[in-house]
Amino acid sequence: MIENPKRYTITAALPYTNGPIHIGHLAGVYVPSDIYARYLRLQGKDVAFICGSDEHGVAISMKAKKEGITPQEVIDKYDGIIRKSFADFGISFDNYSRTSAKIHHETASAFFRKLYENGDFIEEVTEQLFDEQAQQFLADRFVMGTCPKCGNEEAYGDQCEKCGSTLNATDLINPKSTITGTTPVKKETKHWFLPLNRYEAFLREWILEGHKNDWKPNVYGQVKSWVDGGLEPRAVTRDLDWGIDVPVEGAEGKKLYVWFDAPIGYISSTKEWAAREGKDWEPYWKDADTKLVHFIGKDNIVFHCIIFPAMLKAEGSFILPDNVPANEFLNLEGNKLSTSKNWAVWLHEYLIDFPDKQDVLRYALTANAPETKDNDFTWKDFQARNNNELAAIYGNFINRVVVLTNKYYDGIVPQPNEFSEVDEQTLAELKAYPAVIASSIERYRFREALGELMNVARLGNKYLADEEPWKMVKTDPERVKTQMYVALQIATALGILSEPFLPFTTKKMITILKNDLISWEKVSKSSELVQPGHKIGQAEILFAQIEDAEIQKQIDKLEATKTANKMENKTVEPQKETATFEDFSKLDLRVGTILEAEKMPKANKLLVLKVDTGIDVRTIVSGIAEHFSPEEVVGKRVTVLVNLAPRALRGVESQGMILMTNNAEGKLVFVNPDADGVDNGALIS
Ligand code: MF3
Ligand code: ZN
Repeated sequence: MIENPKRYTITAALPYTNGPIHIGHLAGVYVPSDIYARYLRLQGKDVAFICGSDEHGVAISMKAKKEGITPQEVIDKYDGIIRKSFADFGISFDNYSRTSAKIHHETASAFFRKLYENGDFIEEVTEQLFDEQAQQFLADRFVMGTCPKCGNEEAYGDQCEKCGSTLNATDLINPKSTITGTTPVKKETKHWFLPLNRYEAFLREWILEGHKNDWKPNVYGQVKSWVDGGLEPRAVTRDLDWGIDVPVEGAEGKKLYVWFDAPIGYISSTKEWAAREGKDWEPYWKDADTKLVHFIGKDNIVFHCIIFPAMLKAEGSFILPDNVPANEFLNLEGNKLSTSKNWAVWLHEYLIDFPDKQDVLRYALTANAPETKDNDFTWKDFQARNNNELAAIYGNFINRVVVLTNKYYDGIVPQPNEFSEVDEQTLAELKAYPAVIASSIERYRFREALGELMNVARLGNKYLADEEPWKMVKTDPERVKTQMYVALQIATALGILSEPFLPFTTKKMITILKNDLISWEKVSKSSELVQPGHKIGQAEILFAQIEDAEIQKQIDKLEATKTANKMENKTVEPQKETATFEDFSKLDLRVGTILEAEKMPKANKLLVLKVDTGIDVRTIVSGIAEHFSPEEVVGKRVTVLVNLAPRALRGVESQGMILMTNNAEGKLVFVNPDADGVDNGALIS
């Protein structure tokens, strides 16, 4: 860990421009990085807070195909939407660039060339997956299959989102093209590989030994398991038509792998910023007294902790990140956020329903941030955070202070009399908060920091509730001057300390308190944050109540999404091979009724059923125990294949099969021949 850095380079993961951004992005990456950057600026630090759009890669091409437009049109559209969302939520990037920018193409090409000339790559012809129908090589998101590490059947060609492993497309079991759905063949093609195995010793020393204690356990643990699992050469080029050209001879038609060019985007975005500001970009990436911090989500850990550092190391002139405080994932109402399933709260849509409530969302997402484990965002929690915390504690305190100051003193901060012990204590406690909050922020514990910020508001509320100036004013108006003076110091401190977390609220407080609220240091060092004689403004509601109806509207919207997805997901299995009439007539299907059912001992899945088939009452073993209890199925009318060859399951002979299907929700249901007047034994033909 760097002590007393001279400057900070803070990066936030470059979002893919294949869709708008949602609360998961905000909670995982952009709000925490923004809190960090704002906090450092308040401390007077030299900060470059860097981001931009990630505009290459298969995600973009796929979106273009789906929407029937060009990749360029896709990136232009979403780059615009994403930029606006960040600005609307007060994410205070010093620069937001795009990887389609000329400066980025140049920077990434030069980086590749340098490694190429150093001999840092392995050039190799290997067999890669090829979709014969689409006449295209498949990698990354163009191919899906079963993860060889965890068995997840929906792993991508570069990564399994379930277990987090990075994969090569050729590792997938049962690969399928996501373009045509066909099974790819293997075909030879030449690529450049970064031999990660050569960096094992470096990674061990730098991370596993060097950052054992200061990196988050989830990040450290992932890195350790990859390094221990053995690192392999990784292709950094692709056979694609969208991306940055591979800048060497013999690479015609090939592009850089998106994860090679994207992190270099941090560097090109810094260059763009420095050029605009008349600064030198190099110290921000090359000086040892610069603290580089990457804010990312957990699915990006391997790229930021292994691949990009190996690239930086190979290049030779760059510093390495001091920390990579990756977050876990945020879920929404119990389900994984998903752009493709539209299971999300989109920022641009949120602002239509809740204009002026940016800070409420920033607050709810930070208070519930997935810092150490996945967390769930629910609309009820959002409402409670606003009504019971922001409005009831924070807003209430500020409102009381401002209203009373206006009422008693025409808005002028009174001259205090002698401080009581409680006053002294309260003011001393207040002074300690900046250090407490700072320490949490510097350890990347933003929810803890926010909790401490709220404790400042609680301190103020408690002080007023105990002192009761509204009662005292009748008996001892001189004492009330001191009380209101103390309360105004707390209100001012709260306004300053809130800025990293709730920048819109601080802005409002600047008008309410008529104070610039910029000096974080002053809160701990100065004995007076606001002086007697200063005139404050009028009260304004900081956090309005959020009503049940507003929340219900959001919940209904999600329900509608669920229904729409169900309709869309009615993907029908392709028709099987033709069966002749003879084939079909061999099957004897009958209507039956389940008479008895019991669990098969020591088997989770099996029920032993007695079924009246009209021909006889027979035993059928059915694998439905995880979906139905024995009580539930007794009396059910069912369709039975009665002439299936008997088969022993756990020593019980099963004499037939009950036909089942899945309903729209994916739940197993009986094929129920419940037509009126049909008796057991009726032949289905
Ligand atoms: N676009 C990637 C994602 O959304 C993140 C890229 S981060 C960078 O997962 F390092 F490549 F820039
Ligand atoms: Zn997996």
